[in-house]
Amino acid sequence: MLTNDLDFRLEPRLIELYEEHKKRSAKIDWGYHEFLPWDKAQDFRRVPWDASQVTLPPSIVTAIETALLTEVNLPWFTSHLAQTFKGSLSIIKDFVHTWTAEEDQHSNLLETYLLITRSVDPSRLHELHKMTVENGWSPDFHTPFETMVYTSMQELATMVFYNNVSKEANKHDLDLGRLLRRLAKDETLHYAFYRDVIKFHLQLEPNYCYHLGHVIKNFQMPGAVMPDFEDRMAIIAKEANYGPLEYFDQVLDVIIDYWDIENLRPIAPEAEKARLDILKYHARMKRVKERFQRQQK
Ligand SMILES: [Fe+2]
Ligand SMILES: [Fe+2]
Repeated sequence: MLTNDLDFRLEPRLIELYEEHKKRSAKIDWGYHEFLPWDKAQDFRRVPWDASQVTLPPSIVTAIETALLTEVNLPWFTSHLAQTFKGSLSIIKDFVHTWTAEEDQHSNLLETYLLITRSVDPSRLHELHKMTVENGWSPDFHTPFETMVYTSMQELATMVFYNNVSKEANKHDLDLGRLLRRLAKDETLHYAFYRDVIKFHLQLEPNYCYHLGHVIKNFQMPGAVMPDFEDRMAIIAKEANYGPLEYFDQVLDVIIDYWDIENLRPIAPEAEKARLDILKYHARMKRVKERFQRQQK
């Protein structure tokens, strides 16, 4: 059986990566109080919420609410990571602590923004928030290597999501565009760490290819547990800049290229087969994307 755990020989390099992460994240450290339009806030008891107070288009509200409902599940992501890396490299456990502290601001920022700007019915949002966290999150991946592959893709997808939605949001509210770009910067650093952990493993032992395919081919955002996820993603794809086309160009294509799957040469036949399967999957998705683009013209 090809190993699915992280490699202890890489520990010194991963320590360097973590130190680098801390330096870069200290440079962009921020508090969520800095990014909110507090002067718009009003007491809900004195001025109850009413649909007429909403100024953002529904697609942007859906995008922000969906991002929020993904971020609120942080307790479950952390507990999954903590369980997965039990007994694995201690440097990863350190990173998960730092990562959790950084992620912990994200849902606060998005939720407070939605409440202050009265973009959503606060009671409905409260219900959705509670229901989502109560549902929790249980991924298909339980081994350290696969989990790192998943988190690499998830951080990249989240970064792209925030950057893309911010372009649309800017047309309606510059504060919103700015706070989304702030979140994207955090996600960029998270992505850089996870993706390089995987890259180092593939360079040291190309047989790790064996464990890439299942995650790459079945990737789904962790938000899939929230109510109406499919409908939400369809609206966001149409009107807020993040859909299957962007996923292919800005996530899947980028990661396959970065990990240089094309040029890896695993020794184990099953790992080589897995590598070719990924390349086939990538080529098929590319054809689907091109067909889709032609239809849109
Ligand atoms: Fe986040
Ligand atoms: Fe992140």
